[in-house]
Amino acid sequence: MSGKTLRFIKNGQCVQLDNVPADRMLLEIIREDLHCTGTKEGCGEGDCGACTVVLANLEQGQLSFRAVNSCIRFAHSIEGQALFTVEDLQGVDGQLHPVQQAMVDQHATQCGFCTPGFIMSLFGMYQNTTLNDQLISRAQAETALAGNLCRCTGYRPILDAAQQLHHYPKQLIATEPLVGALNACKAQRTPEDSVYLQPESLADLLNQRARHPDAQLIAGSTDVGLWINKLHRRTERVIDVSQTHELRQIKASSEQLFIGAAVPLSDAFREIANYWPALAPFLNRFAGLPIRQSATLGGNIANGSPIGDTMPLLIAMNASLHLQSVRGSRVMPIEEFFLGYRKTLLGPDEVITAISIPLPPDSKARNAAAESQATRGFFLDAFKISKRFDDDISAVCLAIGIELHGGSVRQVSIGVGGVAATPVKAARTEAALRGQPWTQPTIDAAATALEAEFTPISDMRASARYRQSVMKNLLRRFWLQTQRQYSTLNTSSTSNTSTSNIDSDRPSQITMPALRVEKGVSH
Ligand SMILES: Cc1cc2nc3c(=O)[nH]c(=O)nc-3n(C[C@H](O)[C@H](O)[C@H](O)COP(=O)(O)OP(=O)(O)OC[C@H]3O[C@@H](n4cnc5c(N)ncnc54)[C@H](O)[C@@H]3O)c2cc1C
Ligand code: FES
Ligand code: FES
Repeated sequence: MSGKTLRFIKNGQCVQLDNVPADRMLLEIIREDLHCTGTKEGCGEGDCGACTVVLANLEQGQLSFRAVNSCIRFAHSIEGQALFTVEDLQGVDGQLHPVQQAMVDQHATQCGFCTPGFIMSLFGMYQNTTLNDQLISRAQAETALAGNLCRCTGYRPILDAAQQLHHYPKQLIATEPLVGALNACKAQRTPEDSVYLQPESLADLLNQRARHPDAQLIAGSTDVGLWINKLHRRTERVIDVSQTHELRQIKASSEQLFIGAAVPLSDAFREIANYWPALAPFLNRFAGLPIRQSATLGGNIANGSPIGDTMPLLIAMNASLHLQSVRGSRVMPIEEFFLGYRKTLLGPDEVITAISIPLPPDSKARNAAAESQATRGFFLDAFKISKRFDDDISAVCLAIGIELHGGSVRQVSIGVGGVAATPVKAARTEAALRGQPWTQPTIDAAATALEAEFTPISDMRASARYRQSVMKNLLRRFWLQTQRQYSTLNTSSTSNTSTSNIDSDRPSQITMPALRVEKGVSH
């Protein structure tokens, strides 16, 4: 099957490449067709960041700049977008861009192989932050660079360079010409038998999926890209959901947060952390920023890896999964989607359209005074154990949501990863906790139940014994975490003391949100 024409903006110009195969990777066209060899290939699997480039696109009328890994990105996915590689940063007079100059001034490069990737991650951050005249904090620089590996300079001077950027004259990409170029280079409507389909509406997506059940469906391709590069799988036709309008939406009502399956994780996580700020450290541990700016919830769930990080959390949150095909739609508790090792309920003509998460009652007020959620008897947290802190896959992941009422467990929901063939709900452990006093003996009994509930395997990430111990210890850690906040609450309630971050409501007056949407529709 022949390829398809690809159009995108590079250095202000609309570039057209003809006959690009469906499964050609962005890094390949950058180096081999555009001859921009500044962008390097290190690992070819999204881990090292040497291939990082920045994509700019109009999203709801706003320009967004995102650093992404070009090695695992399908070339056609950038149709109609602007591509920036390290060659595009230098001014016409040869003057270095501030991120390049800062790296030089801080001696932040040695062999240089990793450097273009660092430069592009910094450039993405620069475009998105210095616009508001903010100084770059160490934490912000670390987040922006967590997807880049350097093996000879060391990170200190690179992070220093990031924090020195405000000392240099500003050099932001001019918005108007870029928006003009993006509008002028807009994609033509793709014929239905094209090798790379990028439907813009859900109706088109469902029709194309029904018509081409053998096509490779992708969203951010942070899993599928590895199947192409490392397993040498070929695919003649791709259906890319990343531009499907309905799948890119985030909506919230007073009862639930509704996240489209193709929303990039960076946006989805920002929204989740708005409602549950305590989850932010956990969410930041998912890969590095360039992966989170491509990857999606839909992709993580459909891939169904037992060590995927979002599923344990979504199980603990009592989230529901929305599936749709031309035949109809269905909604199910997320844990029921997984049938066995990488086996799911997804039909060949179906797609995941969204994930809905029940919000705690009074969530708007909670959002405004986020810390109050911990003082009202409702607690939610998630923990990831991996060998490396940044950009690593979990050995064990445990998430737990609990509602306490008069010192006892009224409702509890626990999701675990890394201990079975699929992400799992710890139903027997939940049963051991429900209705019991929230005390050490209860948590000891629950830890024993948790140990008995799963039989993890030993592999390169961890031994079975380690997984068992860690799982139990995470449960205990969660209990310890809640002690101070909950006892503060009880003291405050009984003594009627008012403090700035404690609500006057007694915990017994708080209930968990209505749990989930009814299961099943037409099929
Ligand atoms: C360097 C690196 C680090 C990573 N770190 C983590 C980590 O910390 N934690 C973690 O859990 N994962 C991690 N991953 C794995 C990966 O990033 C996630 O699984 C990600 O969420 C996949 O989303 P995607 O949109 O890229 O999926 P894709 O690769 O596009 O697709 C994955 C699968 O989902 C299917 N799919 C995608 N969207 C839909 C949809 N809407 N409906 C039906 N099927 C769909 C595809 O057909 C495919 O089978 C990492 C990957 C890399 C390369
Ligand atoms: S080459 Fe290593 S992340 Fe792309
Ligand atoms: S400068 Fe050599 S790997 Fe980073």
